[in-house]
Amino acid sequence: MNDNRPIGVFDSGVGGVTVLSKLVELFPNEEFIYVGDTLNCPYGIKSSEEIQNLVTNVTKFLLEQNVKAIVIACNTATCNSSHLSKLTNIPIIGVIEPTAKYALKTSQNKNIAVLATNATIDSHKYESYLEKRKIFKKGIRYYVKCSEFVTLVEEMKMNTDYSQDIVSTKLNELKNCNLDTVILGCTHFGLLSKEINQVLPNVKLIDCGKPTGLYLKKVLKKRKLLASDDKDGIVKIYTTGDADTMAQQIQWFDKDHQPIKKIIL
Ligand code: DGL
Repeated sequence: MNDNRPIGVFDSGVGGVTVLSKLVELFPNEEFIYVGDTLNCPYGIKSSEEIQNLVTNVTKFLLEQNVKAIVIACNTATCNSSHLSKLTNIPIIGVIEPTAKYALKTSQNKNIAVLATNATIDSHKYESYLEKRKIFKKGIRYYVKCSEFVTLVEEMKMNTDYSQDIVSTKLNELKNCNLDTVILGCTHFGLLSKEINQVLPNVKLIDCGKPTGLYLKKVLKKRKLLASDDKDGIVKIYTTGDADTMAQQIQWFDKDHQPIKKIIL
């Protein structure tokens, strides 16, 4: 049994395209509909109520597109998504649990830093997941609010002295923590890997894309929702902001996709 309906993917902006990129590699036969809510980005400095309303609006749009599953390619939105199960029965996959689990397996010494938006850190979602594991009696975790990194990515200021300065200043305190693993707990932060590794050269950076994609695969297989093998993959990208601006912002996205369209939610 197969299901050729699309998979919805969304983020507050362009960060989730890092997850989309992994998903396209892992699922060559699937149709993806990505929404970047760039008009309302950043989410990470908004109240929970505001974020929940924005998340509801994007989800309703995706449900109207008849998606078979939704990947919330945004940690901040994942922290504010428990209400979505009232809207639909389709699988809704967040990024936090798969990413935290993956980090748990990766780290040897369990000295792990989580870099995320202010709202994600304040939600204590990573903390409640990581600290409840017995294995984490060992090591120390560090939770760092980095919402200013989101702006660097949305404003396309990566790979500059300016971005290095902001990242170095913020992460300087982690230099002597004997970290072996850093969770990029915001999907925008993979685009700042170079800057982060410059300050913390000996750590493994854990991006949400792969762990979330592998988890999605398990869910779709179990529910017999995978697209048929002979179907060509399609990627459709929508933004609530300006389509040309988004095209500029995701120039690094090297997968085939249809022209970006603006939507009003
Ligand atoms: N990319 C989002 C995340 O993973 C956050 C960006 C924002 O603050 O809007 O948390």
